[in-house]
Amino acid sequence: MTPEKKILCIGAGYVGGPTMAVIAHKCPDYQVTVVDINPERIDQWNSDSLPIFEPGLDPIVKRARGRNLFFSTDIEKGIRENDIIFVSVNTPTKTFGVGSGMAADLQYWEKTARQILEHSDAPKIIIEKSTLPVKTAQAMERILTTNHKKVRFDVLSNPEFLAEGTAVRDLEKPDRVLIGAHRTPEGKKAQDVLVDIYTRWVPRDRILTCDIWSSELSKLVSNAFLAQRVSSINAVSALCEKTDADITQVARAVGMDGRIGNRFLNASVGFGGSCFQKDILNLVYLCRHYGLHEAADYWEGVIRINDHQKNRFVFNMLNAMFNTLANKKICMFGFAFKADTGDTRESPAIFISKKLLEEKAALVITDPKALPNARIDLRGIDQNVRYVEDPYEAVAGTHAIAVLTEWGLYRTLDYQKIFDAMVQPAFIFDGRNILDHNALFEIGFNVYPIGKPALTHF
Ligand code: UDX
Ligand code: UDX
Repeated sequence: MTPEKKILCIGAGYVGGPTMAVIAHKCPDYQVTVVDINPERIDQWNSDSLPIFEPGLDPIVKRARGRNLFFSTDIEKGIRENDIIFVSVNTPTKTFGVGSGMAADLQYWEKTARQILEHSDAPKIIIEKSTLPVKTAQAMERILTTNHKKVRFDVLSNPEFLAEGTAVRDLEKPDRVLIGAHRTPEGKKAQDVLVDIYTRWVPRDRILTCDIWSSELSKLVSNAFLAQRVSSINAVSALCEKTDADITQVARAVGMDGRIGNRFLNASVGFGGSCFQKDILNLVYLCRHYGLHEAADYWEGVIRINDHQKNRFVFNMLNAMFNTLANKKICMFGFAFKADTGDTRESPAIFISKKLLEEKAALVITDPKALPNARIDLRGIDQNVRYVEDPYEAVAGTHAIAVLTEWGLYRTLDYQKIFDAMVQPAFIFDGRNILDHNALFEIGFNVYPIGKPALTHF
């Protein structure tokens, strides 16, 4: 049977993989192919053990794989055989040259554009899924249209808003789908092709269409607003600790204002993840480029507060544990940047591990999904680090626990048993405010939450 539509995605990462799996799941009459330059990643997508952990993803992939979902390294063939191409390659922050530490590194992305050009003989719709600086679609268009082949390319922007850990749910029931297209008849025609795909499972009134630049900018701004909320509540958490106010009470009171809303107000050890910092840095770079220094400083403040929050966490540990961590053993509960993922990109746990190691502490890291990535992140500096999957085993003989990821598992452990296995006096630093602090104090722990008075036995 000829498929109704043939779709390709270049980049089989945290975004490309789940997004295509859900399209294949929702549209069994489409043929969806995901290609990647990394053969190991493709092998994993084709195996029983997928390269990323996402709740609900395994069954969807297993049902569609081989039926209408295919993973391959043959990028050229993929480009030749598909006329709808999503691009979801990574765009990390540049680490060299102009804009180093700020601007997006677009080398993979440009390489992909050139590859598409080289292997296309028929008209194609190219859909930018990676988060990119505003006007990147235009750059892609320039690369694609300066061709001698006379092949027509229509470029669309379709930023992905899924959050890791809830990717499948976010893809199945998105708050909105955003599609940016040229406001020309050709642009709208291409846009309609993409709208058709999404309307297979997303209500039409949740699909927004606009011009390409507004779409690109909306993605950066959405992430900047979300990160700003975390930095706002974290800035207040510092004040709570000084004034004996309770951040949970403040967040509840503030969040009940319908205009503010109660989500995304959890004070924490700081935000991580591959997107927030990168996208804000992009926004800052853009603002500076256009001479908008006040706007750039404003957004940069969101990152400054986040760095401060991570530093404060380590400083509080040091201060509480008699100003020395040398030769003390610290057990880190969680290494992933958030719960329900094995992803550790920009995880606050990386920063905190490095600082604690500088203080000459010994670390035992436990995490249900992120230990393989933790080993990679700390490679070369982990002589004093042990990686232990079982939390009870990890915590035995340590002086302190630092909760860095809000895994549900950590709420349900037997803390009496844990306390009994630790060096006394035992400390808990709850960087996610997920534990029952009074109960821990009753057991005998010295408890240091975020943005609440510490509960100590001294
Ligand atoms: C990526 C971008 O980082 C992000 O900005 C964007 O919003 C969505 O796409 P993610 O899927 O999390 O996010 O990245 P990652 O998991 O690193 O996946 C990217 C994949 O692209 C990798 O598997 C990489 O091997 C692949 N890739 C990279 C290519 O196939 N070709 C290239 O030239 C470069
Ligand atoms: C984010 C956006 O939510 C998503 O729309 C976009 O597509 C990609 O970037 P993600 O980074 O996967 O998604 O996770 P998110 O749930 O947004 O959390 C980001 C960081 O903020 C995590 O480290 C998380 O622990 C932290 N956070 C979040 C808090 O510290 N407090 C909160 O209240 C919420």
